[in-house]
Amino acid sequence: MSEQNQNPEKRKVVFSGIQPSGNITLGNYIGALRNFTRFDDADCLYCVVDLHTLTVRQNPADLRKRTASLAALYIACGLDPEENCIYCQSHVPAHAELAWILNCFTYMGELNRMTQFKDKSAKHADNINAGLFTYPVLMASDILLYQTDLVPVGVDQKQHVEICRDIAQRFNSIYGDVFTIPEPFISKSGAKIMSLQEPARKMSKSDPDETFIAVLDKPEDIRRKLKRAVTDSDGEIRYDPENKPGVSNLLTILSVLKNQSMDDTVAALQGLGYGALKEAVTEAVLAELTPIQTRYNEIIADKDYLSNVLKRNAEKAQYLAGKTLRKVYRKVGLLQL
Ligand code: TYM
Repeated sequence: MSEQNQNPEKRKVVFSGIQPSGNITLGNYIGALRNFTRFDDADCLYCVVDLHTLTVRQNPADLRKRTASLAALYIACGLDPEENCIYCQSHVPAHAELAWILNCFTYMGELNRMTQFKDKSAKHADNINAGLFTYPVLMASDILLYQTDLVPVGVDQKQHVEICRDIAQRFNSIYGDVFTIPEPFISKSGAKIMSLQEPARKMSKSDPDETFIAVLDKPEDIRRKLKRAVTDSDGEIRYDPENKPGVSNLLTILSVLKNQSMDDTVAALQGLGYGALKEAVTEAVLAELTPIQTRYNEIIADKDYLSNVLKRNAEKAQYLAGKTLRKVYRKVGLLQL
């Protein structure tokens, strides 16, 4: 255990990130963003991980736009940038610097086992670059730079947090207590929201538009997409992800957004049809997203405000990250000036 973990007085550190690689989906919101606001007594850092997106070809102008948009969305979802360090990964060079060092403590065999690498290389067979392969090492750097205790993520990122722990433990076993060993924070319900069209697959921002709800979708688009969501033909409202993935996914969205247990959610719909279920989900999604969209529109209109927030928080993150990076450089034997 590291010295940080042994100190009960230390405030917990929470770190997470989202890639500005497409429209932020209801899956990202329920699995990650919505949980970011739950850590009142911790020091929280929420990063827009723009460097990670470069593992897939990006349009530069779009990437810049989506990066600012995601930072604004963090704030619109209720993260006060005075209390939470909201910043862009590329504004803090220590992320890439630590990634190099940690690359030298990560085995090819470990990276080969990553399911996201396998999925993404199948999807982008013409561009299986080294960055895609070492992606989890950059993610480990993000987390370890801040002596993070908790990493709120969806289920699909669990394996990446596990390899981060392995790398940190390996490094600590050679050089002493340098890194805090982080834990994933994965909520019991909603950690894997499924595609509206293919409910056996995860909802993903890189899939076609009709398969997901974007947090910034217009109400009429949300209504249409939910109306067309794939269900099944037996007509019974029941939670059974194996046999009824579409209906179960809609029930999950409803129960999470209404802060209601699954039993109560199902009971409230007894005797009703899928039309009523879809209507209930639509109302819950609109009730959740409409105030976020209103705040988002205010924030994104004020460019100076957003760039000041990002600048101030980048400086704060640089300071914190610099402390860990200097320690790592010293430990591995790089000459200090
Ligand atoms: P990304 O950008 O793919 O997704 C951001 C967050 O959303 C969660 N998520 C979901 N949760 C529930 N249901 C879904 N369908 C769904 N789709 C996505 C993801 O689990 C994630 O929490 N590698 C990360 C970004 C990252 C990061 C980090 C995260 C980079 N560095 C350090 C935490 C800590 C990623 O690609 O997430």
